[in-house]
Amino acid sequence: MEPDFTLAELAADQGPAAVALCRRALDLPEDAAEADALVDALWTRAAADRPVLALGAYVGDDLVGVLVGSVGAADGRLGHVDLLAVAPDRRRRGVGRALVAAAERRFAGLGAVEVLLAGNPPYYGWPGVDVRYTPAVCLAQALGYRQDRTAWNMTADLSYPDSPALRTTEPAERRLAGQRISVRRAEPADLPALAAFAAATFGGAWDAELAGSVGRDGAGCHLAERDGEILGFAAWGSSRPSWFGPMGTAPAAAGSGIGGVLLRRCLRDQRAAGIGAAQIGWVGPVPFYSGSAGARIERVFFLYRRTL
Ligand SMILES: CC(C)(COP(=O)(O)OP(=O)(O)OC[C@H]1O[C@@H](n2cnc3c(N)ncnc32)[C@H](O)[C@@H]1OP(=O)(O)O)[C@@H](O)C(=O)NCCC(=O)NCCS
Repeated sequence: MEPDFTLAELAADQGPAAVALCRRALDLPEDAAEADALVDALWTRAAADRPVLALGAYVGDDLVGVLVGSVGAADGRLGHVDLLAVAPDRRRRGVGRALVAAAERRFAGLGAVEVLLAGNPPYYGWPGVDVRYTPAVCLAQALGYRQDRTAWNMTADLSYPDSPALRTTEPAERRLAGQRISVRRAEPADLPALAAFAAATFGGAWDAELAGSVGRDGAGCHLAERDGEILGFAAWGSSRPSWFGPMGTAPAAAGSGIGGVLLRRCLRDQRAAGIGAAQIGWVGPVPFYSGSAGARIERVFFLYRRTL
């Protein structure tokens, strides 16, 4: 049977249509609620840093499916599917399959040898496919993708004032002050030092996530320093307002309580921004987040890949 839809590159003015579709098609309410931020981060902002492809499936003029993908930030031989959503009333008619196939052809044209259904930091909406998007798990298997990793988030409950995630940081900050360590909100002027600290201490490229957090609406970052030297940072909101991370403490300062203070300062910001539950993304040290914020493992993601 001939498909009753057509595929096309998403034109630049299709942002609002893509957001409206994601609001309807992302079945998990916490994702639908951030459709705007997701499309902005994965399509618009990511395009400043790496090749991004955005494909739409149309029935007439109606957008019924969307796929946003990108070339690996660290490895140009990988193509990532960053976002895939098909309108609920248009499912099981081959739209998802056709979008993924079209993305695979384009990735191959860009030199990719493998395609991942997995997040491509610094701009990512999910580490992989949330297992509760069970149709997507079925689609991945049907299209020959292999699950090679599992990732999980932790949820910090910000919905009530006595939550362990909102515990005061004052006593810990006083203790740190006794060691000449001060903690404060990061400003745009701190970005070069923060990026240098992150690169030197952890080797990762967190520049873009830091730039996406410091001084941006719906995002924030806190740092700890001694005598002007950065000892740790924690950030939230770079791709999604409800998501926390990345964070890092200098190994020399580990155990001093800096991490818990930085974490809870960010969570406090998130609550002030109206967020009832923060997602600590793609963790990481479970006992630390459990102990410092009463966070619990909740979202679980399968990461998939397929050789082209
Ligand atoms: C996942 C999603 C994109 C699939 O889109 P779709 O257009 O319905 O997918 P297709 O019709 O192309 O399905 C391709 C194959 O995937 C499998 N599949 C898809 N949905 C399935 C389901 N509900 N149950 C079992 N298998 C399923 C089937 O093998 C299907 O082939 P078949 O219909 O010939 O049997 C869609 O369900 C969706 O938007 N879900 C919500 C958002 C989401 O999960 N996005 C991805 C998260 S990262």
